Amino acid sequence: GIKVVIIGGGSSYTPELIEGFIKRYESLPVSEIILCDIESGTAKLAIITRLAERMIHRSGLPIRVSSTLNRRHALEGADFVSTQIRVGGLEARALDERIPLKHGFIGQETNGAGGIFKAFRTIPVLLELSKEMHELCPDAWLINFTNPAGIVTEALLKHGPHQNVIGVCNIPFNMRNSTAEVLHVDVKRVSIEFIGLNHFVFGRRVFVDGSDRTQEVMQRLMTKQLDFSPANIVSLGWSDAFLQAVNMLPNPYHQYYFQTTETLKKDLAAYNTNGTRAEIVQEVERTLFEAYQDEQLDEKPAELELRGGAYYSDAACSLMDSIYNNRGDVQTVNTLNRGAISDLPVDAVIEVNAVITKEGPLPITVGPLPLSVKGLIMQMKQMEELTIQAALSGSTKDAYLAFLMNPLIQDEKRAQPLLEEMLLAHAAWLPQF
Ligand code: G6P
Ligand code: MN
Repeated sequence: GIKVVIIGGGSSYTPELIEGFIKRYESLPVSEIILCDIESGTAKLAIITRLAERMIHRSGLPIRVSSTLNRRHALEGADFVSTQIRVGGLEARALDERIPLKHGFIGQETNGAGGIFKAFRTIPVLLELSKEMHELCPDAWLINFTNPAGIVTEALLKHGPHQNVIGVCNIPFNMRNSTAEVLHVDVKRVSIEFIGLNHFVFGRRVFVDGSDRTQEVMQRLMTKQLDFSPANIVSLGWSDAFLQAVNMLPNPYHQYYFQTTETLKKDLAAYNTNGTRAEIVQEVERTLFEAYQDEQLDEKPAELELRGGAYYSDAACSLMDSIYNNRGDVQTVNTLNRGAISDLPVDAVIEVNAVITKEGPLPITVGPLPLSVKGLIMQMKQMEELTIQAALSGSTKDAYLAFLMNPLIQDEKRAQPLLEEMLLAHAAWLPQF
């Protein structure tokens, strides 16, 4: 049977994965699931493990589930490993959201200064995991959800010994599903040509059964009949002028870049009434873990939809299924460019449609970037590279450079105090600085 290890197993998202394995058991016969977490997550891990046991018991399937704090032990002989960790927890996320906002910048978990710092905290920890996997389960696939997923995946592929790594996000998955819904067709018939980077991806063309329906979908976006926003983002909607000029499907995170002033105002107002998204999520987590402790509960609770990452497990499990069965179907993943986008380095990680085989994802050629968004995508990639460089060197000069090249920061004199405050606030999680 298949052995799966979930790093960050105590996460409130885990029941989604368990449900995904139960649903797919026939094609993806998982026989063992190990939920692994750290000391401080012991209480949550126990609750999640109990719930997972009940879910599996209800299914009647012969899947063994257990939990451990010993990562090395968990990894031995694994076939698939998924990561959903948050270094520093939601407290650190709150800082990523609050401090930039206080300085007049976008404060967000994966964008701007917050995203850069989340990368600084995460990359060293996941590079350790890469080394352990290389030693203990060299053939296993690492499915990484930990944000910023694109940057983290690139850091692992460039600097970690373990090369079977794929980054995943639910945004392309959600975009395809909502598009299918609004067109009233089965999602299997819909394909979207995604180009760009994680949380900076565009849908260039939409096909239903191979015929181009892009303009119809653009029309639905204009009339606001279609909205791709996950639970964590309040969408302001796009102007007709923007949609006509770019002529591609934007993803919800693009609002930070193309509606910066308006979004800043909206986020500040939301912060003043409800606090940061991290604090809202802490509240959702309290409700979720309350529900998870109910001994009668033996399925994924509906409240999980209050999380922006809802349904992410479908992406993860489909990916494992296609690797295991060597399906050769197309899925959207974060993987090595290998020339798919001719304007970007071959070893850059991009978010792209790829053929999924047992050897991993083979990216489908995109060609050159459209002139409309070429500059920004290249700048974002360069900023990501600088972020990785700083995460490894621990040099504040490198970190400052990443801030300067981030379109959401850039302003050299204001960047300095922001960087200093964030370095100080996160010091406990940044041993490299
Ligand atoms: C989206 C993103 C995920 C992110 C999530 C945040 O779904 O694709 O990468 O983790 O939103 O959701 P949350 O409920 O934590 O704010
Ligand atoms: Mn994502």
